[in-house]
Amino acid sequence: MKTRDLILKFLKRNIDNWVSGEYISKELNVSRAAISKHISSLKKMGYIIESLPRKGYSLKESDLLLPDEIYDGLQTKTLGKKVVFFDETDSTNIKARDLAEEGAEEGTIVIAESQTMGRGRKGRSWYTGKGSGIFLSLILRPPLAPTEVAITTLMTAIAMVEAVKSVTKVEPKIKWPNDLLLGGKKICGILTEVSTEMDSVNYIIVGIGININTEAVSFPKEIKNIATSLHIETGEKFKRKLITQSFLKSFEKLYNILKNRNFNHIMKEWKKHSDMIGKRVEIEIFERKIKGVVEDIEDDGVLRVCSDDGSIERIISGDIHFV
Ligand code: BTN
Repeated sequence: MKTRDLILKFLKRNIDNWVSGEYISKELNVSRAAISKHISSLKKMGYIIESLPRKGYSLKESDLLLPDEIYDGLQTKTLGKKVVFFDETDSTNIKARDLAEEGAEEGTIVIAESQTMGRGRKGRSWYTGKGSGIFLSLILRPPLAPTEVAITTLMTAIAMVEAVKSVTKVEPKIKWPNDLLLGGKKICGILTEVSTEMDSVNYIIVGIGININTEAVSFPKEIKNIATSLHIETGEKFKRKLITQSFLKSFEKLYNILKNRNFNHIMKEWKKHSDMIGKRVEIEIFERKIKGVVEDIEDDGVLRVCSDDGSIERIISGDIHFV
């Protein structure tokens, strides 16, 4: 372990208490000047550390999504074992795609505290409230046919519902295909991008953005009425690190089920977390609008709607509004 990480370990063991420079210096056999240099670099990384002349250093509780924070306590075999972190980047999906093109391993994740070009579905932008949510992209290389990729988005939504539920005890509902709603407003969106050959998948980038501790005033006015966060809905603040780790754990479990081609299990879980079946909806598919009632979600993730003119529509992608 590097000296800086060892110093951090000492401070973490004594979180909110004082650790003297003399103690660290003796234990690690490093000079006081070196300690001070490492403390500065930890502060630059985002750690909040107080220092006082005769007391030493005191680390305050924080909620950083730095790679070492994610690795610490992560209960997965492969997912998230390599984390690429940016304090600011254009879009984690773009960075993940570049890494995938360079041959990055399956399970690599890209996390950013803020994005200057956060992307949503259909060319929309995604609001990234710096430090207040989780904005990450996963690189996957599944043994699926291009036509089977849609189910990864559905699976991602289930994994996030499970994670949010286990950490916060509130349970968002899934709105097909990729939104998580709380109190009827969106807390989370998923953007899946794929690179394919004729009949195989090179890689999938699953990008996920979830508003955790975002304050209502922070949302841009265009989305104020449709977006929310876990904090707004519950009045509480949550540790992003715990939700990230729990998401990766759930994701890995479901991903193994998907790789075993047990699509039916995934769809059953998805239906448990969605209350769309039987609801009246209006669906926008480019210029076309369909009104009807959701009949079912098929095993390949296609939405089946009984439209008002009596025909059965199988919808692969579109924007849905409840009516
Ligand atoms: C949507 O609901 O339109 C999808 C939103 C997806 C946002 C996430 S944030 C992390 C990742 N990087 C991006 O640029 N987009 C996704």
